[in-house]
Amino acid sequence: MADSTPLTLSPEAMNTGLAGGILTVDLTAIQQNYKALRDQLAEGVSCAAVVKANGYGLGAAAVGQALANVGCRRFFVALPEEAITLRAVLPRVEIFVLNGLFPEVVGDYVEHRLTPVLNHPGEVEVWRIQARKTSKSLPAILQVDTGMSRLGLQPHEAEHLAEDSGRIAGIALQYLMSHLACADDPDDFRNTEQLMAFEHIRRLFPNLPSSLANTGGILIGKDYHYNLVRPGIGLYGGSPSSDQPLDLVKPVVRLQGRILQIREIAPPSFVGYGAAHSVREPTRVATVSIGYADGYLRCLGGKSVGFIQDYVVPVIGRVSMDLTAFDVTHVPRHLAQPGNFIEFIGPDFTIDDVAKAAETIGYEILTSLSTRYHRHYIGGEISGTS
Ligand SMILES: Cc1ncc(COP(=O)(O)O)c(C=O)c1O
Repeated sequence: MADSTPLTLSPEAMNTGLAGGILTVDLTAIQQNYKALRDQLAEGVSCAAVVKANGYGLGAAAVGQALANVGCRRFFVALPEEAITLRAVLPRVEIFVLNGLFPEVVGDYVEHRLTPVLNHPGEVEVWRIQARKTSKSLPAILQVDTGMSRLGLQPHEAEHLAEDSGRIAGIALQYLMSHLACADDPDDFRNTEQLMAFEHIRRLFPNLPSSLANTGGILIGKDYHYNLVRPGIGLYGGSPSSDQPLDLVKPVVRLQGRILQIREIAPPSFVGYGAAHSVREPTRVATVSIGYADGYLRCLGGKSVGFIQDYVVPVIGRVSMDLTAFDVTHVPRHLAQPGNFIEFIGPDFTIDDVAKAAETIGYEILTSLSTRYHRHYIGGEISGTS
């Protein structure tokens, strides 16, 4: 094992008498991951941070502050509401709203100094009118669709815009941006196709800085980096592809659940809903206070494992809403007893390992983590090496 699981919790984490589980977020590891990704870039390329969905479930305010402490100055969120919340803790950074300009709240973008990513000609028009109304130039990113058929101007719309500068009067474009559909597989031919499509559109806006790469795009290579990269998952210790762990980054999350009860059961017997697990030999079962309502996905029943120090304890039966059973037959009794903790996610069993067991991606594991855990943040202070 890379790192043994502490059964003894830190004093702060011990103060969890009310919680069934403890989610520890290592902000120093997030800072190190940011620096590791930034080290992949050529001089002059900026590294932003994607902190949408509440910092991939880990807390956008805490993650944002930790990253600002190591020099990150540009942050991407999905929604204006997320941006306003982030602005309250980061008054001086640039905040970009990926899901665009919500017309009902255009004034909020101005008031909170938010930069929309303009995703279609209608948004460009609304922002242009707002700039005229406020008599000041307003910043924006222009997104173009290079093949993903999700958000962004289509190539012909970008061409129209480039031909008529009046349509962007008063808009201070900061970047031309696009997003890769298949960056989790560096060998996918569509990466090159999107790169070529992006190059074509870039020529229409000759002096505009550009941004294309997420975490996967950073790893594909420098051709994809342009002026600004936008990593998300790598910051949180995950890999764009759960099949290929990303050695460059460190695990950030540790998830531990409290053992409520130990039961010795004799065959023939079963465990949990639907009698999904049959007991064929004497078994010791630990029932732990974590379930799918905590984001420990129901599909992990019978498929994942936890750890008690170096002992691997399989999940048995179905995951319930608030409870999960583990087979602790082979764990010394003094380690597996009520009040002790089992670790489900940590350095020995990462978000990508859990994602593989659940046949999903680390992104979903992270963003499913509920607010019911006691959240415990470690590190993240200003570092001298930013
Ligand atoms: C437009 C955009 N850029 C960057 C990212 C960050 O991607 P990743 O988490 O794969 O690094 C995302 C995430 O979904 C995104 O939608």
